[in-house]
Amino acid sequence: MRILGIETSCDDTCAAVTDGPRIRSNVISSQAAAHARYGGVVPEVASRHHLELINPVVGAALSEAGAELGDLDALAVTRGPGLIGALLVGVTTAKALAAATRKPLIGVDHLHGHVAANFLDPAPLEPPFLCLIASGGHTLLAGVARPEGFEVLGQTLDDAAGEALDKGARLLGLGYPGGPAIERLAADGDPDAFDFPVAMAREPGLDFSFSGLKTALLYATRRLDAGELERRRADLAASYQAAVVGQLVAKLERALEAGEWGAVALGGGVAANAALRERVGELCGERGLRLKLVPAELCTDNAAMIASAARFLEPAPYPEYLSWDAMA
Ligand code: KG4
Ligand code: ZN
Repeated sequence: MRILGIETSCDDTCAAVTDGPRIRSNVISSQAAAHARYGGVVPEVASRHHLELINPVVGAALSEAGAELGDLDALAVTRGPGLIGALLVGVTTAKALAAATRKPLIGVDHLHGHVAANFLDPAPLEPPFLCLIASGGHTLLAGVARPEGFEVLGQTLDDAAGEALDKGARLLGLGYPGGPAIERLAADGDPDAFDFPVAMAREPGLDFSFSGLKTALLYATRRLDAGELERRRADLAASYQAAVVGQLVAKLERALEAGEWGAVALGGGVAANAALRERVGELCGERGLRLKLVPAELCTDNAAMIASAARFLEPAPYPEYLSWDAMA
């Protein structure tokens, strides 16, 4: 089944063509540079960039796949959650392209997309598995029993893990996105230098919280004078990253203890973090579990994962989807 996927939920304009688990094309136009000067994603700026980029990105995805609209079996689009104005650009484009060719359209939940990145080549992972999704907008543990959906076992009660890294990076005077910047600086620092709390360690559930950690970093920086702050920035970054990773791994371990899972998958931009990958690798090694790590371009937002999720969902025939809205 050949599907054109479209994803515009945040600051990446994405289109992809898949054929079953095979990726024919996966085009991602990142707007990161446009948002960097603001230190984070500005929703209105994102919508305007999506509008300019969506047609060329869809065109590139089709031509790289050697396909035309007429060759497709269906179109798929992210309906939510995400930035409403950004989502609307993708949803409207998908509706227009599908309606013009009388093709069916499949609406996809963005988080189901992150889960479904694991169903793509190479080496697709079959359910059941436990999936930790950590990005700039979301942090959750998904229990995946069937490819059609997932169960939220735990999620963040405040900031997302990537958001915590982005805000921490700003406190340390680093650029956006903060995750990679903290990771680079942390390489020269001591993760045990500062005692940041691994939040929710004593709470019984599988939920996450990162806002207290950010406050702890703020206080730690205030206690240092300018010279000392400069000297200890790498230690601060390493200790902060260790606390974020520590909480993600602690909850993942708790979820593994609570259920019967044969495999673990990581998704979302934070899954690119080497310290997280290493810790989760050790955990899976100790427990004899398969660890599925998709390539970086399938961890961060992309449209191949949206087309991948769509394979398992019911397509809406023309003209049923014309009344669809985006869901923030
Ligand atoms: O999935 P993603 O590209 O976009 C969404 O937020 O949906 O994730 C972006 C987030 C940002 O917060 C960024 O700082 C974080 O992922 N990130 C990382 C790394 N690369 C990106 N965090 C830690 N280590 C990294 N290497
Ligand atoms: Zn995402």
